[in-house]
Amino acid sequence: MCENIYKPYLMVIDQIVDETADVKTFRLKFKNQEDADKFTFKAGQFGEYSIFGEGESTFCIASAPTRKEYIECTFRKAGRVTNALANAEVGDTVGFRGPYGNTFPIEQWEGKNLLYIAGGIALPPMRCVIWNTIDLREKYKDITIVYGARSVADLVYKHELKEWEERPDIKLITTVDPGGQTPEWKGEIGFVPTVLEKAGLTSANTIAILCGPPVMIKFTMPVLKNMGFEDKDIFTTLENRMKCGFGKCGRCNVGKLFVCKDGPVFTYEEMKVLPAEY
Ligand SMILES: Cc1cc2nc3c(=O)[nH]c(=O)nc-3n(C[C@H](O)[C@H](O)[C@H](O)COP(=O)(O)OP(=O)(O)OC[C@H]3O[C@@H](n4cnc5c(N)ncnc54)[C@H](O)[C@@H]3O)c2cc1C
Ligand code: FES
Repeated sequence: MCENIYKPYLMVIDQIVDETADVKTFRLKFKNQEDADKFTFKAGQFGEYSIFGEGESTFCIASAPTRKEYIECTFRKAGRVTNALANAEVGDTVGFRGPYGNTFPIEQWEGKNLLYIAGGIALPPMRCVIWNTIDLREKYKDITIVYGARSVADLVYKHELKEWEERPDIKLITTVDPGGQTPEWKGEIGFVPTVLEKAGLTSANTIAILCGPPVMIKFTMPVLKNMGFEDKDIFTTLENRMKCGFGKCGRCNVGKLFVCKDGPVFTYEEMKVLPAEY
């Protein structure tokens, strides 16, 4: 009999971290050890996470493939499914289908500097590849992470930001929008493109991975171009609405591309062929 491709794995919520007032991270473990043993994924891929009786939502896999035995997702309460997921508790069972989509080509980046630039809730889609390359640290040269949020309260993964800040082999620059700082805040104050511009970084032998709200992307791209980056060396990941996740329903198409199958990871060179709104 044919395996049902829509049937999710059963996952138990092992840990919940409240990142901000409306963002949570779930650590999920496979209920069936056989599923856990067989499961593999690569940085950049995503899945369909379900809460039974409510529906499915698309989130990237936010943990690194180098960390076995569990997967993590970080989501913001946006609507029906994410609100229901946010009410789930440790020990509850949820569904997961995946992994789907293409991946960040981290093997091709070996020997290069990596510049990660993220804004707000866009750090989760990048966390997987960040940890993946940190776990393979000797393969890469400088790793720089520029991360901005509206306010200190909106920064996600605060515990990990501290860890990255303390590591001598990672350069972390955090920033909050003017007015979003607290008296204790020791990071930068300013928008991500401005902070990036004055960071004194270059494009030499460097790959940039950029993810954030459209306004951040709009003003960061010229900064990257001024730094000398070519479009083929700038990567991003798209978040179009999806249904099936693997190229069957046509929900996510952009021009002739399916974001779920041909993406979600694209270079800016590849994005040039997409319709103007992208
Ligand atoms: C590849 C991919 C990876 C993603 N990764 C993450 C992640 O790691 N964390 C996370 O919080 N979210 C992520 N998203 C977005 C997430 O899928 C939606 O926010 C979520 O599905 C909303 O589900 P819901 O049922 O709670 O909301 P719904 O009731 O479906 O919608 C709530 C509101 O959000 C809008 N909306 C829903 N989905 C999208 C979307 N894709 N783009 C723009 N607006 C949307 C709706 O129009 C509506 O206004 C990702 C999306 C994709 C395609
Ligand atoms: S989500 Fe169904 S084709 Fe992409």
